[in-house]
Amino acid sequence: MELNTSAAAERNKQPILAELRQLLPASGRVLEIASGTGQHVEYFAREMPGLAWQPTDRDDADLAQIDARRRQSGLANILPALRLDVLEQPWRMARQVDAVLCINMIHISPWETTTALFSGAERLTAAGSGQVILYGPFREGGLHTAPSNEEFDGWLKEKDARFGVRNLEDVEAVADEHGFTRAHLARLPANNLLLGFRRR
Ligand SMILES: C[S@@+](CC[C@H](N)C(=O)[O-])C[C@H]1O[C@@H](n2cnc3c(N)ncnc32)[C@H](O)[C@@H]1O
Repeated sequence: MELNTSAAAERNKQPILAELRQLLPASGRVLEIASGTGQHVEYFAREMPGLAWQPTDRDDADLAQIDARRRQSGLANILPALRLDVLEQPWRMARQVDAVLCINMIHISPWETTTALFSGAERLTAAGSGQVILYGPFREGGLHTAPSNEEFDGWLKEKDARFGVRNLEDVEAVADEHGFTRAHLARLPANNLLLGFRRR
């Protein structure tokens, strides 16, 4: 199978990894939502071998890509990809995880995916230690942080009026409703944020 490659994932995987190293425990289990091509999970699993990585996506073509990449990598700490649409609640998944990681999904899907993400994470993580880690573009105080993000927002809304660059404070409010407090914010290249939320 020919593997798809996302240029953005190639560019952002290293800066994201540097943040994950600060946030994640040395061992445990990470659930990745919307794994896409699987490039991130492959890279993170190789670089953080003490963790077991569970890739997921709602798209069957993506799942096939992720599993092809997993097999090619030979990495035993990547679990077989599972179909997971965050909007199908409750998630058909019982195993607790240390962290839920979601890269570049909440702006390119309806707002409901943000609430669904925290709702699912609340069920699967432990109070006091569970985390949600998000990466992507965000508005802050209602304002775009760069002209490129504003242009991207326009492009997203043209594609689907329900899509759009989310406001950081709105995401924090949803997180709070589900028992998560933002404990980490890193400004990464290309005007993207890496946000770490801790379960209270
Ligand atoms: C822009 S891609 C990002 C993929 C990957 N995380 C990356 O950064 O390269 C958006 C991903 O979100 C997934 N997605 C969209 N809506 C979803 C939903 N409701 N539940 C789960 N995944 C979803 C898509 O299938 C796609 O893989």
